[in-house]
Amino acid sequence: MMTSRRDFFKGAAGAVLLLNGKKTLSADPVAVAAPIIVCSRGTEWGEKVLGPAWNTWEKTGSMMDAVERGANIAELDPEDSSVGYGGLPNEEGVVSLDSCVMHGPTHNCGAVAALEKIKRACSVARLVMERTDHMLLVGDGARRFAVAHGFVEENLLTDKARLNWLKWKENLSENDDWLPPKDDDYSHEAYQRPTGTINVLGIDAGGDVFGITTTSGLAFKIPGRVGDSPIIGAGLYLDNRVGAAGATGRGEEVIRTCGSFLTVELMRQGMHPQKACEEALKRIIAINKGSVDFNVKYIAVDKKGRVGCAQLKPYGETHCSFISDTGFRAIKAQVVS
Ligand code: GLY
Repeated sequence: MMTSRRDFFKGAAGAVLLLNGKKTLSADPVAVAAPIIVCSRGTEWGEKVLGPAWNTWEKTGSMMDAVERGANIAELDPEDSSVGYGGLPNEEGVVSLDSCVMHGPTHNCGAVAALEKIKRACSVARLVMERTDHMLLVGDGARRFAVAHGFVEENLLTDKARLNWLKWKENLSENDDWLPPKDDDYSHEAYQRPTGTINVLGIDAGGDVFGITTTSGLAFKIPGRVGDSPIIGAGLYLDNRVGAAGATGRGEEVIRTCGSFLTVELMRQGMHPQKACEEALKRIIAINKGSVDFNVKYIAVDKKGRVGCAQLKPYGETHCSFISDTGFRAIKAQVVS
């Protein structure tokens, strides 16, 4: 059982490790031997995602299945407002999903963008990788492909997400015909436009690397907008000789800096994953001439089992987490700007 050997870890370099109830200081706190599975979320969601992912790894010995299982947990959970079912919709109230998958041993990829009415976008992306000669299917073509593979069309808009969207819409302008909400509740949540997303990266016992990114994208986006999450090299990249990286946050900035590709390339040059994540964020800061009013977060893992995690702003999901033979750990993202 995961809980029987759970270790908690807080903070970045030099931080406190709770190992079997004992506090220790760790020189290189985020290095564990593969197999390892890394998630872009902290303790609560990390455990939810990584527990089943690890069980799948132990049961099947397939790290591709394991990372898919982990990503599916977030995709199917109506409480997650930035991924899959329950995700916040586009400006017309339609949930539209983006996802991609990479398979290290073959360097093969699959992706779907602007996928509607289908719950497990990353599983469809995996089918694009495994069952077509293409890499990216979009919109109605992606939906029809999913249906051809037996996926059921469903309404992905939960009541909670619909009410959140309605509040956003009713608050948009005083000059349209939508009156303000009756409760006059101009809550912070109503104006927030999350780009939550989840990355799940895995390295198996043989050192092969796998990864998935999945999202409902920027809340209230213009219909047809595609973020970084289905773009290989942006929302996800891996190289079987180096490791893997994934991005969450403002996809436009990740796309224009090829963020995950850059992070993996920096690791290829010998950089620790932590430093590579920070350098990739500095590229965004430089392109924006030092001024950033959005968040981007990178996670990375290299073949030595070293994990990195950094973000531009100290809000949103401020941690990432990973699980290995030594248990579950959450680490705080280093804030770069
Ligand atoms: N990173 C998710 C998005 O921008 O759509």
